[in-house]
Amino acid sequence: MFNRPYDVVLYGASGFVGKQTVQYFAQQTASKPIRWAIAGRNRQKLEAVREAIGVEVNVLVADSQDQQAVDDIVAQTRVLLTTAGPFALYGNALVEACVRFKTHYVDITGETPWIRTLIDRYHTQAASDGTRIIPCCGFDSVPSDLGTYLVVRHLQQLGVACQTVTAYFQAYGGLNGGTLASGLNLYDSDQSAQVSDPFLLNPSAIRTPDEITRNRDPQSPCFDLDLNTWVAPFFMGAVNTRVVRRSCALYEQWQEPYGTDFTYQEYLKFDEPWAWLKATGVTTGLALLTGVLQQPPLRSLLQPLLPQPGSGPSEQTMNEGWFSCELIGTGTDGRQVRGLMRDQGDPGNRATVKFLCESALSLVLQTEELPGGEGRGGVLTPATGLGDVLAERLRQAGMSLDVQTI
Ligand SMILES: NC(=O)c1ccc[n+]([C@@H]2O[C@H](COP(=O)([O-])OP(=O)(O)OC[C@H]3O[C@@H](n4cnc5c(N)ncnc54)[C@H](OP(=O)(O)O)[C@@H]3O)[C@@H](O)[C@H]2O)c1
Repeated sequence: MFNRPYDVVLYGASGFVGKQTVQYFAQQTASKPIRWAIAGRNRQKLEAVREAIGVEVNVLVADSQDQQAVDDIVAQTRVLLTTAGPFALYGNALVEACVRFKTHYVDITGETPWIRTLIDRYHTQAASDGTRIIPCCGFDSVPSDLGTYLVVRHLQQLGVACQTVTAYFQAYGGLNGGTLASGLNLYDSDQSAQVSDPFLLNPSAIRTPDEITRNRDPQSPCFDLDLNTWVAPFFMGAVNTRVVRRSCALYEQWQEPYGTDFTYQEYLKFDEPWAWLKATGVTTGLALLTGVLQQPPLRSLLQPLLPQPGSGPSEQTMNEGWFSCELIGTGTDGRQVRGLMRDQGDPGNRATVKFLCESALSLVLQTEELPGGEGRGGVLTPATGLGDVLAERLRQAGMSLDVQTI
């Protein structure tokens, strides 16, 4: 592996998020001996990115549908980082090659039915080879997944098993055309119904009716007694909760369980005044939007009016954006701990780029410290594949990330 020409290849580097990963990587690796290159399908665009950012790296070219060309890139690197999405359209050949060449992989997908296909096709092989295939290393689902992991382990250090973790999000930022394209592609596929399965990403197992009830997605706003304010279902919950449940299931398989009958949910939190009204308005708006997206004719009417792939929020919006993810963990004896992850910058761009690049750097620079040691592999999650190493790197990169006993 160390004989390969590159430590990391950034694929999809000409995209809206891709360009920002190049910028971040150039800054973070300036004084480090990291060998990296940028890649994608269009040489001209990639060279323009390289020039605009002023970085001296090689440009590698492969269309994501050309398996041979993708193989040639993947065989040259220890880690592949990709931002080329919709991932269900542009990610298959990359993951296939990563598993074959034992190249670690990170991305920022939130397309859970696609991740399910990766688990079915590649988990066993990657697990036996020690290859880490880690989707969801962006805003979906690092705060939920890593935050939960830290809260659970904090409770366990106090000598208590964890019963529940609930995450409460607040965020401000913009929307990328690429993110919309991924959402619309999901509705265009025949897989959108799978999204509602609370255990979509779990290793297969029989669920009791009680387990299904406890893990059902919340549908309506409610008054939260822990926070003393109104909350609404979080629109990324159908992605993040599945990732957290996969982490919980994998740690259980490795004899490091979160807790018996552990449950996880997440919400959007609203401050007064009008917290009830805001929570109700957001829930209603989301239900209406989902209803529209489920109708193909309405979807095609809406599509041209929305931001297109390649576009995203202004620099000002991305700089002024922020997010906060507050996590309350409750132990089996009722004791509670509070986790908080927050950062300045648009969650879908600035924070996502930080999460993703630091995930790749964890794999490159701290391989031996990763959870499970060097031999761990499979289709993993941020918590199972990167764990404390990623948490510490994010802190060093300026993100607040803390857990305290209440
Ligand atoms: N997890 C999160 O929080 C989060 C946040 C933001 C975005 N995302 C996801 O990240 C993805 C990218 O978002 P974005 O805003 O950067 O989108 P974007 O600007 O549209 O970028 C898409 C990238 O895919 C590339 N591409 C398109 N067709 C290709 C092909 N046949 N072969 C190889 N590459 C191809 C594009 O290359 P060209 O430049 O040559 O067209 C471009 O680099 C989306 O799936 C989005 O949902 C996730």
